[in-house]
Amino acid sequence: MKKIGVFTSGGDSPGMNACIRAVVRTALHEGLAVAGIRRGYQGFIDGDIYDMDHHSVSNIIQQGGTILRSARCSEFHSPEGRQQAYENLAKFGIDGIVAIGGDGTFTGASIFMQEHPEIKFVGCPGTIDNDLLGTDYTIGYDTAINTAMEAIDKIRDTASAHDRLFFIEVMGRDAGFIAMAAGIATGAEAILIPETHTDIEGLIKKLEWGWENKKNSSIVVVAEGDEAGGAHKIAEMVKARLSRYEIKVSILGHIQRGGRPSCMERVRASRMGVAATQALIAGKSNVMIGIVNNQIVYTPFHQCIKEHQQMDSALVEMVDVLS
Ligand code: F6P
Repeated sequence: MKKIGVFTSGGDSPGMNACIRAVVRTALHEGLAVAGIRRGYQGFIDGDIYDMDHHSVSNIIQQGGTILRSARCSEFHSPEGRQQAYENLAKFGIDGIVAIGGDGTFTGASIFMQEHPEIKFVGCPGTIDNDLLGTDYTIGYDTAINTAMEAIDKIRDTASAHDRLFFIEVMGRDAGFIAMAAGIATGAEAILIPETHTDIEGLIKKLEWGWENKKNSSIVVVAEGDEAGGAHKIAEMVKARLSRYEIKVSILGHIQRGGRPSCMERVRASRMGVAATQALIAGKSNVMIGIVNNQIVYTPFHQCIKEHQQMDSALVEMVDVLS
């Protein structure tokens, strides 16, 4: 291996910069050249690639977003797009790549490697959703749940002052991990997630019970991918049946994707970046780096693409007990 490329792809997440920094510094430490590829797979196709040195990643560990930018690139889905990408990588002399992203990113890498096996890819899990198999934490999740928690705490203050019921929508198109963690941490009365059936009747009963027992606020955290619809839709359904509550809706949205990464985020992202670079040097490819029980593990891309992290049913049960 002579030169490593690094890129970020898909939805950005806090901690990606710490991971990029770790890749660059580890590669240089090991005597390899390293290049940044901008805007995900779009940068492969456009040849938007630049050589990086020690200072290219100075003072970025604390920054949210990604200095390499990110994109979801449809051109890479075509063989012509991937051929163009290959030619650009060859031009820059890149033979190993650290891909920081989610399952879509790893799908692109797998297809590319079938056509061009001489280029090796190792992945780092970059998504706030925490839904990837093969790691206890994805890069961005810890910061995102803390951002959501702080926002929900603030909403709880005003909800209590006005005896209101709030439906708060958090990110998670296909997964409820953000909703689950932020909801438990804020004492939510209910948490609605894509992994479980949403029982609107049961929810109404629970909220009625809260009213009768003089709760002066109620919070329902809704993952955006919940089967019953988003927070607005569910709030409308409940409003039609529960007129005594004053109901408000709040969509937290992309604030969950930004901000300074938490301390553990920076530490984990750094560990993964180092491990990914060392894995490439050791000849590994087609695997995602993860941290499971505080140990670095390698999971084949095809597994990370096919299967996803399972929601712990004990957490689901706990919400009912604690609310
Ligand atoms: O994949 C991460 C994620 O944050 C999802 O939870 C969310 O649905 C999606 O990205 C939003 O993506 P975009 O920024 O492209 O709207």
